[in-house]
Amino acid sequence: MTRYLIEGGAPLKGRVRVSGSKNAALPLIAATFLTDEECVLHDVPDISDVRVMLSIAEDLGSTYTFENNTLRIRTPEVKSSEIALEKARKLRTSLMFLAPLLHRTGETKIPFPGGCNIGKRPIDSHLNALEGLGAVVHRADDLIHLTADGFIGNLIRIVKLSVTGTETALLAAAAAEGETQLRLAAAEPHVQDVAKVVQKMGAQVEGIGTNVVTIQGAKKLTGFEHRVTPDYIEAGTFVIAGLVTKGNVVIENIDVDHLDVLWEYLDQMGAKYELRRDAMEVEVFPTDYLSHVDRVRSGVYPDFPTDLLAPMAVLLTQCDGISRVFETVYESRLNYTIELEKMGVKTEILNSHEAIIVGPAKLQGNPVASWDLRAGTAMVLAGLAAEGKTEVSNIYWIDRGYERFEDKLTALGGTITRIEEDA
Ligand code: EPU
Repeated sequence: MTRYLIEGGAPLKGRVRVSGSKNAALPLIAATFLTDEECVLHDVPDISDVRVMLSIAEDLGSTYTFENNTLRIRTPEVKSSEIALEKARKLRTSLMFLAPLLHRTGETKIPFPGGCNIGKRPIDSHLNALEGLGAVVHRADDLIHLTADGFIGNLIRIVKLSVTGTETALLAAAAAEGETQLRLAAAEPHVQDVAKVVQKMGAQVEGIGTNVVTIQGAKKLTGFEHRVTPDYIEAGTFVIAGLVTKGNVVIENIDVDHLDVLWEYLDQMGAKYELRRDAMEVEVFPTDYLSHVDRVRSGVYPDFPTDLLAPMAVLLTQCDGISRVFETVYESRLNYTIELEKMGVKTEILNSHEAIIVGPAKLQGNPVASWDLRAGTAMVLAGLAAEGKTEVSNIYWIDRGYERFEDKLTALGGTITRIEEDA
């Protein structure tokens, strides 16, 4: 079990560059399967989820090089339309191969996918979209078995405004005959990135960034070159890291318009920061007094991202007064508050969606666990702000989504060391 040892208490200082988005890069790797031509993706984060996705792609017939965050990938022929169980179980985005495999081979069998342990994660949005575009579902239990004799454009309502469900629909619609209209489409920056890529591949897409997206399928989808959108969750994580350690940090490669609700909450707290839209930078300044926020509520984009709620909860521990976090997307994603209690924070889980956090708390270093990717990151932020030593276990979760996390924090003056199992 690899863990981090953190010596807290030092304000972070300096500049940090945000990597390309995990949640854009993963579906874009699957998108490359829609064509037999070469596809080039820049700014692909070198994280374990990307490596798993690439190894699935290789099993299915791709050849690729991945150097300095540039991925050159080509799948001249699809060798198999089935994904191995142990790989599918590792990540939910194995689902993203459904549409491309159906397009290329007319059939696919994918084991029910895995992913972060954050509540029920059904796949009806994917199946509903694929069925609507002409696929036939034969099984959808522990194994998903689909066939399709070509996709046909249609009107699709995306179940629960699902993010990856919308991406599956975009990939299928790009390859479909005729026009598809997606209603209740998710609009997150990574979904927009997938839409931009299918456009580069030859589909015509209107309404990118809105909840109604119209796609005119292309007869033949082509290769493309694309720079992955900056990871707005990583960006927000570093903004919070700077503020919670009372540091002075410049976050580079950030699209400030992706995080409007974060800025709104920071204004309510009285946090000092400066947005530089054209330079794609944000600078956070040491802020001694932060006021509580009545309720920080997650929601679908452009609302506050669920993936940033755990890091935000750590910042709320430093705010004066009682704040409330309200998780609307998942029903069991508040366990990190139990870990925060171990570090001296007064919190209470009110129900499966809501918790209160009493601040300002004097964070004390302690052994804590990562419950999922974002909860693990939150523990690292708490450790950096705490007095004394914090040990964060199960950090394989963090490796799934943050590129060189400890290197970036060390460059900002944080004291954080990776301890391997046998060390
Ligand atoms: N839902 C359904 N039916 C479906 C799909 C989803 O009821 O068919 C429900 C889920 O139960 C959940 C909600 O809708 O309550 C949202 O699920 P969604 O499908 O939108 O999530 P996802 O596509 O599986 C992506 C991100 C997650 C992020 C969510 C919400 C990727 C690869 N993953 O998941 O990222 O939390 O959207 O924004 O894009 C992370 O990066 O740490 C992470 C978990």
